[in-house]
Amino acid sequence: MLGAFATAVHQKRGATGSEHDLMVESGANGAASGSHWIECDPRELRENFDRSPFALRHNIAGHPLFRMERLLQLARFLEPRPDEYWVDVGVSHIDQRWDQTTHPSSSLTEVIDNLAQLDAWIVLRKAELDAEYRLLLDECMVELRQLMGGTWGRRTCRQNSIIFVTSPNRLSAYHIDRECNFILQIQGEKTIYVFDPNDREVLPEEEIELFWTVDNNAARYRPALQHRAHAFRLHPGDGVHVPVNAPHWAQNDDNVSVTLSVNFQFSDVERANNYRANYYLRKIGLNPSPPGRRPFRDNLKSWSFGGALGLWGLLKRTPVFAKRAAARRY
Ligand SMILES: [Fe+2]
Repeated sequence: MLGAFATAVHQKRGATGSEHDLMVESGANGAASGSHWIECDPRELRENFDRSPFALRHNIAGHPLFRMERLLQLARFLEPRPDEYWVDVGVSHIDQRWDQTTHPSSSLTEVIDNLAQLDAWIVLRKAELDAEYRLLLDECMVELRQLMGGTWGRRTCRQNSIIFVTSPNRLSAYHIDRECNFILQIQGEKTIYVFDPNDREVLPEEEIELFWTVDNNAARYRPALQHRAHAFRLHPGDGVHVPVNAPHWAQNDDNVSVTLSVNFQFSDVERANNYRANYYLRKIGLNPSPPGRRPFRDNLKSWSFGGALGLWGLLKRTPVFAKRAAARRY
């Protein structure tokens, strides 16, 4: 057990370099080593992690951090930071784009107060900015990584805790994420539909390239393929693992729902650059191979695209480009 902790400490230190992370990993705050928030079969986790969605259980549903008055306190804390939360209302189509949704005129806290009467979807994007939520996130991540055998298998970054607060019967539109997710249902019941991230009829290569390059809403819902989704009924205490880029959407029951997502991103610059390079290669009429099939070409594309991005960044800082950019603004 100590060996696993030491490995986890070493690897996390390498990934984020944070002293706080190090303390939590080692159990120095006295909480991480004693709690058991996540319950899942380690073998199932290791076999399916970031490959296929699967169900798990957790013990967070009764946690005081998720009582409505505490969530309101978190909302008041995040409200002056508009980038750290999202509220929309009235989404009734699975394929609704996020940039075409309606935002309520009332404040975040007013929306939470009136959730049962609205058709709202609230995303508290960075609950971990509040130290108590941060601690819970750290504890969940420590447990999950221990269950994984002390390693995620790849370098990670941007550990994150998102809380979804949803009105009765509200639909969460179809999409894919950059993050590797563990969705934990806290209050209310809902169904989440998760597709195989490697099914290229559900999620064509072109949509992944578009997603990593220019469009967060690139994934297109195909009703005829809905039967391929894994449907997970979520009651308080249930959870589901959603791999990176696994398409998903959710339908809330006739109840207010609170859902926690503990997630992180892989430090996958190479894969992201490959998709970006393929996006531009396809635009000039080529048919590029997906990442993973030809490692030499993958490396070449990643290096070329990374180099081009770096060069573009340098060029943008030169006086000539700065002057042109300033002229375009007026
Ligand atoms: Fe998502």
